[in-house]
Amino acid sequence: MTAHAQLGRRRSMVYRARTPLLLGTIAAVCVTTIAALAGTADAATTLGASAAEHGRYFGTALSTAHLGDSAYTTIAGREFNQVTPENEMKWDATEPSQNSFSFGQADQIVNFATSHNMRIRGHALAWHSQQPGWVSGLSGTALRNAMLNHVTTVASHYRGKIFTWDVVNEAFADGGSGARRDSNLQRTGNDWIEAAFRAARAADSGAKLCYNDYNIDNWGDAKTQAVANLIRDFKARGVPIDCVGLQSHFTGGSNYPAGYRTTLSNFAALGVDVQITELDITNANATAYGNVVNDCYAVSRCNGITVWGVRDSDSWRSGENPLLFDGGGNKKAAYTSVLNALNAGGGGNPPPSTTTQPGGGSCTATIVAGTVFGDRYNTTINVSGTNTWIVTVTITAPQKISTTWNISATWDSTGNIMTARPNGSGNSFGFTTMFNGNSTARPRATCRVG
Ligand code: G3I
Repeated sequence: MTAHAQLGRRRSMVYRARTPLLLGTIAAVCVTTIAALAGTADAATTLGASAAEHGRYFGTALSTAHLGDSAYTTIAGREFNQVTPENEMKWDATEPSQNSFSFGQADQIVNFATSHNMRIRGHALAWHSQQPGWVSGLSGTALRNAMLNHVTTVASHYRGKIFTWDVVNEAFADGGSGARRDSNLQRTGNDWIEAAFRAARAADSGAKLCYNDYNIDNWGDAKTQAVANLIRDFKARGVPIDCVGLQSHFTGGSNYPAGYRTTLSNFAALGVDVQITELDITNANATAYGNVVNDCYAVSRCNGITVWGVRDSDSWRSGENPLLFDGGGNKKAAYTSVLNALNAGGGGNPPPSTTTQPGGGSCTATIVAGTVFGDRYNTTINVSGTNTWIVTVTITAPQKISTTWNISATWDSTGNIMTARPNGSGNSFGFTTMFNGNSTARPRATCRVG
């Protein structure tokens, strides 16, 4: 039963009251009810609101083709706090003839987003695909200059309105080569990506500048490593880059990989924000959708998630039903899974940590997320494999553990690393962590045989 239904039931009980004694009893019931509702008041009821409570965004791609459909705009305006124009800011849409710009369609999306307090991801300034016909007649310096003029003009037009630009999209080849994708832009010289990023920064210094691609979800893949090397190179040479976008189309033969969280984390470690930019999953597997949220929340520099469309019928792959709403606009199981994961705020459980001793014996520490309060959260760790365990728990500052139970605890000098040993209370222990201004980080734990 929902909180609203419970409240309605309690109210009808109040109206049936007849005697002062009963009224007194019912007053007590109401106090209890209000207290219970207050305890659940933190759980947001829309995707964007929940993400915002945790300092992230949850967005969608929008298309002008559907802006006249009130079912579509109702869902979009209610659920999401970020928008990416699906096609309207691409080169063919914004510069149909050379140096003649057309922003009408893109402006419709921008206006919708602005009027609904949604942030806008610009997509995409330089891309080998969806180029206007006139571009095919250019090469070399003429094409390079046309591309730079396009980047400058579009980024300038939207200066101050875009929180992140996909400056360059899909510039690396698929497969094991790790090479650049062959394209007319690539043939203007290997420095075309760098040139595009510099032009975008000069045109709009307030927008985050992203490199965006698909099939960069496995850290070990050659394509992922090629993008990582591009970021390392840009960082080393001072070329402006602020983020990497993982499109994450887990559909059509490209699956959600087990190491996805590691990939997000490793990209973040290069000094860039990480954004999941075009998420869709074949048949919208609810568990996978929830886990993507957990993975993003586990990485503090993962700013947000964008799904690539509102309803299944709006999807570029509508036959695969990969989104959170069905064609009738109904919430699917994947929607509930995503909302629950967003509300858990990173409380989605990370994989257990297992250590095997060289001489035999093993220790597994499984983190179980507990209750989240306004200023703190609880965590339980279940240990298996040994009764003589030593579990090391690492907390992200400024968070701080305030209380522990069922362990004997010692601390390192920073106060952020706790070493826990059994205190005779069994193999399950817990602790409370104060947010101290960071409500997204969650503990990590490793285990060894003592
Ligand atoms: O609007 C015209 C319509 O007038 C015409 O009758 C019809 C005939 O084919 O085409 C319509 O345009 C189509 C457009 O989507 C709008 O529906 C284009 O043909 C079609 O090519 C275009 O596909 C888009 C695709 O990018 C093009 O590469 C998809 O909507 C869009 O979802 C997709 O998005 C890309 C991202 O930008 C980058 N990452 C991959 C992602 C999926 O391919």
